[in-house]
Amino acid sequence: MNKINVILDCDPGHDDAMAILLAGYAPNINLLGITVIAGNQTIRKTALNAANVASFLNINAPIAIGEKNPLVRDRIICEEIHGESGLDGFIFPKYEHHYEKEKAYQFIINECLKHDKVTIVATGPLTNIALAIKAEPEIIPHIEEIVFMGGSLTNGNISPAAEFNILCDPEAAHIVLTNGIKTRMIGLNITRQVLVTPQVIERMEKINNKASDMFTKLMEVFNANQNKTFGIEAAPLHDPVTIACLIDESLLTYQDMNVEIDLSHGPSYGRTNCDVFSYLKKEANCRVAIDIDVNKFWDILEKGIKYYG
Ligand code: RIB
Ligand code: CA
Repeated sequence: MNKINVILDCDPGHDDAMAILLAGYAPNINLLGITVIAGNQTIRKTALNAANVASFLNINAPIAIGEKNPLVRDRIICEEIHGESGLDGFIFPKYEHHYEKEKAYQFIINECLKHDKVTIVATGPLTNIALAIKAEPEIIPHIEEIVFMGGSLTNGNISPAAEFNILCDPEAAHIVLTNGIKTRMIGLNITRQVLVTPQVIERMEKINNKASDMFTKLMEVFNANQNKTFGIEAAPLHDPVTIACLIDESLLTYQDMNVEIDLSHGPSYGRTNCDVFSYLKKEANCRVAIDIDVNKFWDILEKGIKYYG
């Protein structure tokens, strides 16, 4: 099978951890590396979380540490959802972690220049990727696609208008969307359909291996924090959809459209303005997911968890 080269840029984060799990399982993915960004928690914590999940699942991918702060705005984190550690709920064994010497954006540059085509999957703020594009535009023809969890066709989750990953660094999202690179947006309109219900937890718990134990314990905290914050019973499992759609391209339905990031610094700062009806007659710069086969998603995740026997 021809594998796709993937770099996963993430801010673990409970749902990011499931994206790492799927990336480590995916039969059609050659995981070149995991790059980490501040987002759900500070960079020190998201880096440790990424390394712990990879070590626990025996995923031998290089890990490069990214930026502490966004390009322009001040940093925001999401402790209310992911907890003080950024991955509350599961205690990992003590590991000795080794990180790449170069920073994440340089790792992305190096890997893109090494390979003819690389797919970059982003499940956190887009700072590392934007920096890589600006620092070395030569990588652009080597980027097959940037698949990102972020934005929304509808309302936000950190402000009325904006989704967390985009609002963390709107200027970075603008750079990703305005450099002629093929992009694929998986927004809240999609991820709010994959909810970690008690039935989902029971289904994965029954697998009864180390990955299912990690899933169950993390999701209990993820659900509890989402309930406290949003009053919902079941959390949307945002990030693994980015990998699941690469594993099975029939998972999502898309529409090409123009997407612009609101950089106005007003109440809509960080909004993904998705021109569904092409009112502005601008060129489509993004393939936006508009529907998901929810049952197929949970089947993929179940296979992923079962893989770690
Ligand atoms: O808005 C949801 C996104 O923000 C997810 O990627 C979650 O992990 C947080 O990073
Ligand atoms: Ca994330």
